[in-house]
Amino acid sequence: MADTSRPEGYINKIKCKTLITYDYVLQLSISPFCVTIFFIFIITYQRWKSGVASTLNYVSLDDNSTSPLLIPYPDWETNLLDEDDEKNSEKQVSIFRINIDKCDRLWAVDTGLADILGEGKQISSPAILVYDLNTDKLIRKYQLKKSDLESKSFFANIVIDAEPDNCDNAFAYIPDLGGYGLVVYSWAKNDSWRIHHNFFHFEPLYGDMTVGGVNFQWTDGVFGLALSDKKDNGYKTLYFHALASVREFSVSTEVLQNETVATDPHNYYQFKLEGYKGEKSQSTTSGFDGKTDVLFLTQISKDAIGCWNTKKPLNEQNLGIVAQDNEKLIFPNDLTIDQERNLWVLSNKMANFIYRGLNTDEINYRVLKTTVDDAISSSAVCQS
Ligand SMILES: *[C@@H]1O[C@H](CO)[C@@H](O)[C@H](O)[C@H]1NC(C)=O
Ligand SMILES: *[C@@H]1O[C@H](CO)[C@@H](O)[C@H](O)[C@H]1NC(C)=O
Ligand SMILES: *[C@@H]1O[C@H](CO)[C@@H](O)[C@H](O)[C@H]1NC(C)=O
Repeated sequence: MADTSRPEGYINKIKCKTLITYDYVLQLSISPFCVTIFFIFIITYQRWKSGVASTLNYVSLDDNSTSPLLIPYPDWETNLLDEDDEKNSEKQVSIFRINIDKCDRLWAVDTGLADILGEGKQISSPAILVYDLNTDKLIRKYQLKKSDLESKSFFANIVIDAEPDNCDNAFAYIPDLGGYGLVVYSWAKNDSWRIHHNFFHFEPLYGDMTVGGVNFQWTDGVFGLALSDKKDNGYKTLYFHALASVREFSVSTEVLQNETVATDPHNYYQFKLEGYKGEKSQSTTSGFDGKTDVLFLTQISKDAIGCWNTKKPLNEQNLGIVAQDNEKLIFPNDLTIDQERNLWVLSNKMANFIYRGLNTDEINYRVLKTTVDDAISSSAVCQS
């Protein structure tokens, strides 16, 4: 598939060990954030600190070696930054989460920002990148418009609404966790619009968190997004929450896709409060299983993965726990459900990484996998 030749010494070895089926244990000096499963297994590295060689990488799932190497996607050329920034306009700088749609396309938002915890260098403006996974060609690059951005904008997630029989009518929903908004991109129109809503903000009392023994205060707004299956009216429900928040909200994609309705200053009642998830229920990412209507949510303050059967009202009692582990699930950062209904989780001790530095003698990054059905069977409240 992609070019596997690479300069020596850029990427440390990865330790790999079998836990459930795959428990890749990544020992790297940089923080992996994203896991999305296709026929390959893709990991993104954000340039949180300088020294990151490649932001978008994969390992082959056929690689059974204890240290599978990360392979840059689509190639080294695109990932390796030049010291002369003028030459970096065609490069990938810092990609957080990615999404693979039902039309074999890989979508990513490149924040364009390097050395995020250091000097914070804006190398390029934020852009949506779309790759065709069958050819590994970049088929679209869309720079977000000025009107999509706020001074504190930060785009760390992207969710795609596409059906295999209607690939040209795809939409991307991109939460802005720093600017408290949601950007919608229409593939057909090749245009975007920004939505404002109070529910995109954080809850001031819930930015105080302790994860892996590290206490910190964050102000991250809307971050976790998950799409239901299509309803009878042809639209889906987008479930969403701010990271520093203990509530879950929703909105119909019928609202999001209609620019006039979505950007109307009187859009307040188009959005719905689903409910309160209980204390310590702050969550990064979520994922929806269309067969059971169960929403899975990372639970960073509990070292756990939670679940909610969306056929039931959301409250503290109806938020179940499908997995909890005070070591393996420290900072469960990303979660995804693949086409075969496997549930994948990436934990990465991110708070330690940012505030204390990682102890490289211990395992800091894990990718864990189970099936959706096994996960649900471990929580009575999430069963139908
Ligand atoms: C890796 O292991 C799997 C499962 O045991 C096996 O099916 C596959 O052939 C192995 N791949 C290689 C390249 O040995
Ligand atoms: C989409 O819009 C961007 C910016 O407006 C433009 O650069 C690009 O060529 C357009 N792509 C297509 C396929 O129309
Ligand atoms: C958007 O919604 C408005 C108001 O309901 C409606 O008049 C318009 O036809 C819709 N636009 C599209 C493209 O569906």
